[in-house]
Amino acid sequence: MHQIKQINALQAYRAELRGTVGFVPTMGALHAGHLSLIEVALNENDHVLVSIFVNPTQFDQSSDLENYPNQLAEDLRQLEKIGVTAVFTPDYAALYPDNYNYQIIEKELSQRFCGAHRAGHFDGVLSVVIKLLNLTVSDKAYFGEKDYQQLQLIKGMVAAFFIPCEIVACPIIREPDGLAMSSRNVRLSAVERKIAPELYATLINQDSLADKTSHLNDIGFEVDYLEQLDDRLLIAARLGQVRLIDNVPISAGARS
Ligand code: PAJ
Repeated sequence: MHQIKQINALQAYRAELRGTVGFVPTMGALHAGHLSLIEVALNENDHVLVSIFVNPTQFDQSSDLENYPNQLAEDLRQLEKIGVTAVFTPDYAALYPDNYNYQIIEKELSQRFCGAHRAGHFDGVLSVVIKLLNLTVSDKAYFGEKDYQQLQLIKGMVAAFFIPCEIVACPIIREPDGLAMSSRNVRLSAVERKIAPELYATLINQDSLADKTSHLNDIGFEVDYLEQLDDRLLIAARLGQVRLIDNVPISAGARS
């Protein structure tokens, strides 16, 4: 497996690849959720590129960025083992030669749900994803339904800017107790980790939205939002220092 840090090295490497290329962007601290995207990509393409870059422009809180888990050596070992062709690990200066003077801004969906609570978050996500798609020139790029709003915004950007890459949506991978896998789960205390699966359990029970919210608030969550988008019920809630998000098809959870 090749580890590539520089932009021109990635472009030169990409130019030599023959056949189809699948791309999986990540921020590292890889878990079975990430690996499921990579498995699908490996099945569907001749080559799979993965990026690991903790993108500072999408963090609205510096403490969240500083505490983001970093386990690059272990991540590289896992990627090598499953047959990834190359991993791109740029630094900020390489990926942002413009120092983020140029930005992709979406004006509607990005302002709602997570966007209403995390100023500028989706501008950062879209700006880094368009750079990565342009650099990897991939036939398909893989994103998790775990970040459902992000997935919709990326699909919208690709359509709006005629980017010739198919966006493939992959299902949410959960822990045995139902908690959606997330790199941030390691920051939950032992007590919080026991409470955390209640987020999903509450999402799929048949209670009204108001009852779900008050139950979660009663047991220690602070619910940011619980709302419908398309045919999905989306939730974000804080548990101590950690913000958890999840979503389910609307048929699985009660409405009004
Ligand atoms: P990150 O949180 O590392 O997630 C990388 C990809 O893995 C995303 O597409 C995300 O939806 C997917 N993913 C994470 N947890 C998952 C789970 N439990 N089940 C299925 N898929 C899961 O999302 C980002 O990074 C960044 O915003 C990024 C797109 C890389 C841009 O910086």
